[in-house]
Amino acid sequence: MSGDPGPRSDTRHSTWRPGALAKPGFPSLAPGFLRAVKTYKRAGRPAAGPYCETRCHCRGVASGVMSGAPPTRMTQRYTVVSLFSGAMGLDIGLEGTGRFQTLAAVEKEPAFCDTIRLNRDQGGTAHEGLVVVESDVGHLCPEDLMARLGLEAGEVDLLVGGPPCQAFSTSGRRASVQDPRGTLLWDFLRFVAIMRPKYFLMENVRGLMSAALRHRPIHLRPEKGGPALDPDEMPGSVLRLFLEDLQGDYRLDIFEVNAANYGAPQIRERVLFFGNRVGDLIEFPAPTHGVPKATKSDNLTLFSEEGGLAESLLPFRTLGEALEGLVEEDPVTLDFSPRKKSFLAMVPPGSNWRALPPEVAELSMGRAYHAKGGRSGWWRRLSMDLPSPTIVTMPNHASTALCHPTETRALTLRECARIQEFPDEWEFVGRPVEQFAQVGNAVPVRLGQVAGQVLADRLDSLEMGRALLVGDKLPPVRQVYLQSHIRTRRWYKDGTTYIRGTECDTSSDYGPPRTTRKETVRGS
Ligand SMILES: C[S@@+](CC[C@H](N)C(=O)[O-])C[C@H]1O[C@@H](n2cnc3c(N)ncnc32)[C@H](O)[C@@H]1O
Repeated sequence: MSGDPGPRSDTRHSTWRPGALAKPGFPSLAPGFLRAVKTYKRAGRPAAGPYCETRCHCRGVASGVMSGAPPTRMTQRYTVVSLFSGAMGLDIGLEGTGRFQTLAAVEKEPAFCDTIRLNRDQGGTAHEGLVVVESDVGHLCPEDLMARLGLEAGEVDLLVGGPPCQAFSTSGRRASVQDPRGTLLWDFLRFVAIMRPKYFLMENVRGLMSAALRHRPIHLRPEKGGPALDPDEMPGSVLRLFLEDLQGDYRLDIFEVNAANYGAPQIRERVLFFGNRVGDLIEFPAPTHGVPKATKSDNLTLFSEEGGLAESLLPFRTLGEALEGLVEEDPVTLDFSPRKKSFLAMVPPGSNWRALPPEVAELSMGRAYHAKGGRSGWWRRLSMDLPSPTIVTMPNHASTALCHPTETRALTLRECARIQEFPDEWEFVGRPVEQFAQVGNAVPVRLGQVAGQVLADRLDSLEMGRALLVGDKLPPVRQVYLQSHIRTRRWYKDGTTYIRGTECDTSSDYGPPRTTRKETVRGS
C-alpha cells in the first residue's frame, strides 16, 4: 500500500478559519472545527477524545459522562474513513459540524492526493494525522488499511465515499454496468463488509436509482417493437442487485436531495445512502430553502418575499451571494475559445442558446439543435440572481457552459469552488483540468455538513444509550424522495429569465414543487 506514513504528532498551523463558510443563511461551523486532536494513544490510532485518556465506552467527552450525570450533549469527534475522497468536499462538510475527524482518505489520482496532503499540512483537516492513501480502492485490502490505522473491525464510526458515477450519470452516455460486482460500487460494499462501520454514507448521482445492469439499445427497445426487457435490463436493476448484496445486518435509508434546498447556491441533485448496523432509522431534514409558495400566480416573482415563501422556507441562495467579495489576482481558468465566446456574447444573463437567432443557434449547435431535451446547458450564461446550475468538471464546454453573468468567460476555479462552498483557503493542486475536476466532482460542502449533523446526532444517541428504533421492526430499505428535482425551466421563457424585480411570469407555472416528499419501502 502506498501513501503517507501514519499519524504524526507535530503541531501544524491553521491558515484558514471556519468562519470562511459563515455566509448569510449558512450556519457557521462549529467552534473548534480546526482543533485537531493532538494526542495519540499509540501510533496509528487517534486518541479517544480531547478529555478522555482511554478509548472506553464513554469515549470520553461530556464532563457529565465522566461524573456519572446523565449526558446531554456529546462533543467528541467520531472517526471517519473516506474512500474516493477527491478534494474532500464531503469530508470537509462532515468535519464542519465539529463532530468528525477523517482518519484516512483513499484516492487514486496523485494530484487529488496532493490537494489533501497540502490542506492537511496547512491545518485544514480536523485530524492532523490524516493518512492519505494514494491507491485504487479496487486494489486495496480493507484489512491492510485497518491495520495501518490501528482499527479493529466494527470500530470505525463512519465509512463514507462516492464511488465514481460516470457510468450511471444521466448527463453522460448511459453506459451502465455489465459486470456490476467488478465495479467500484461493489468495492464500497466490500469495505463495509470487512470494516463494519457503525454507519456508512455513500453518495451518488440520481441516475444510479434508475440505472440498468444491461443496456438495451434504444432501437431494440419494446417501444420500438423489440421484445420485453429482461429483469437485468429494467431501470433500477443496478440498485436492486446492490441492495441484495448489502450484508444482511445493515439497513438502509436512501434520500434523493438537492443541495439548493439546504442553502447551497447551486442546484445539484444527489442521492445519499445512509446505512447502519445498529437498527437505526435515519431521517434527513426537510428543505430549509425554496422557491416562493404560489399564492396568486399572476402576481408573483421568483424570490419575492411578498409572493409568500412556503412556510419557514428561506429563498434559494444565489450565484451573486456565492461570489460576493471574491477578488482574484491570478485565477485558474479553462476558458472558452474565441469562437465559443462569439456565440456567448449574444446571450443575456440567465439565458442560453434559446436567446440566439435561430440560424446562429443551429449553426453553432449542429445536430444538438434538432435533439429533444437536454439542451439547457448549451451556450448558458448564468444569472447572479439565481442559484448556479450544477458545477461540472469542464466549465468551457459548449453544451454544459458555465459562462459568467456579466463577462464573456467561463467561471474560474475559485468561483466554482465558492459555489461548491469550499473554504477560500482550501487549495487545489494539479494542472487546471485536474483542479477543475476536483471541484466539479465534489459533494457540495454544505450537503456534507447537513448529512454530518444527521449522523452525529444518531451517533450521539447510540453513545448515550438512548434507545434506537428496533431494527427488525424497520423496513430494511427505505427510499425517500425529498423534493430533489427543481424545475428550473420555469425560470426561463423564450430566452428571458424571470427573476426578482422583473416582470413576472403569468403562466401560473411558479409555485412550490409538485412532489415534496415520497417514501417507498423495499424488502419488508
Ligand atoms: C465523485 S468523486 C468524489 C468526490 C468527493 N467525495 C468530494 O466530495 O470531493 C469520485 C472520486 O473517486 C476517485 N476514484 C475513481 N476511481 C477510483 C478508484 N478506483 N480508486 C480510488 N479512487 C477513485 C476519483 O478520482 C474521484 O476523485
